[in-house]
Amino acid sequence: MSFFLSPNLAAIQPPPITEVKSWIAERTFPPEKPLIDLCQAIPDYPPAQAMMEALAPLLHDPAVAKYSPDEGLPAVRQSIANWYARRYGTGPQATEICLTVGASQAFWLAMVTLCRAGDEVIVPLPAYFDHPMALSAYGVVPCYLPYREGSGGLPDPAQIAAAITAKTRAILLVSPSNPTGAILPPALLRELFNLARRHNIALLLDETYNTFALPSSCHDLFSAPEWGDHFVQIASFGKTFALTGYRAGALVASEALIDAALKVQDSMVVCAPRFTQHAIAWGCDHLDVWVEANAETMQQRHDLFRSSFAVPENRFRLSASGAFFAWVRHPFAGQSGRQVARRLAQEENLICLPGEAFGPGLDGYLRLAFGNITADAIPAAVQRFCAL
Ligand SMILES: Cc1ncc(COP(=O)(O)O)c(C=O)c1O
Repeated sequence: MSFFLSPNLAAIQPPPITEVKSWIAERTFPPEKPLIDLCQAIPDYPPAQAMMEALAPLLHDPAVAKYSPDEGLPAVRQSIANWYARRYGTGPQATEICLTVGASQAFWLAMVTLCRAGDEVIVPLPAYFDHPMALSAYGVVPCYLPYREGSGGLPDPAQIAAAITAKTRAILLVSPSNPTGAILPPALLRELFNLARRHNIALLLDETYNTFALPSSCHDLFSAPEWGDHFVQIASFGKTFALTGYRAGALVASEALIDAALKVQDSMVVCAPRFTQHAIAWGCDHLDVWVEANAETMQQRHDLFRSSFAVPENRFRLSASGAFFAWVRHPFAGQSGRQVARRLAQEENLICLPGEAFGPGLDGYLRLAFGNITADAIPAAVQRFCAL
């Protein structure tokens, strides 16, 4: 390699899902022991059939092939605002929503708008790996707070408060958490919002998996006066409507923050794909019942997974779990999560992510995306852990 590569990238781990999938790339699996994929979190079901039928004619509409305004089509932003009002009881105005290329790009917009290189963001562990990867690539310092076994994956406000420095720009949280599945209770989020407000920093909340939790667990931060001065939300409609490949996300923030972010949006992607925007609007307008039914299915999967996993012959231990994910302690002292995950792939035809992908000091853990598999496949999946 002859040219300069940013040294920021040298210390960043390669994309973990790509690595795990490479372990099985050349393999075929016998029908009596098929591959069980608990690796990349993707709903097992297809998008709603009615949505596909409604979208099909749009392929022939030349307007849909054009750019939209950078922030997204006004009618789409309004459909999303209406969706928030129904789900959260209150929510952003249409002008406080910017359509993005997945939640991933919304995170980048938030990060480069809130932070300069050298600033700090507080990141409780375990952390969704793309967040520290993005922060480090941009030169922002992720200030990790260690995972506390027994916490159920809930962050400790005192620990967060103690980590705030003059360089802190944001407290970064994910709820429901990837990788623990933990749903942060509304009162805890309110406390952390007030903490952010006292220190004049942002509470940056990634709610990619919010629709896998029941609406009763929604926070009330959008009802706080001037919420946008200290709260920024990352949304993914890819998970909500089973459209992960459409790259459907949004940044929800004050108009002032969105105005600033549009300078990045314009130079980064111009706008979210217009076809995807129509899909989101259709889903917001028509799929409340479909979304709720899927949340109930996920809840049932979680209940079944918890009870199946707790059998005495299974030496793996559930450390935390909730919507879509389980965060599991493996029983092999002296072996890394990567080694154990690789053995599961090789010996048990099951893929999952090693704990160390989610931050330093976490190699005693694995992340299982049980939301990927249907209830009838859960007992067989647990059997593979018992067998290792
Ligand atoms: C916590 C979290 N945020 C963001 C994303 C990315 O979402 P999207 O596909 O909408 O970019 C994921 C994807 O797995 C995720 O787990």
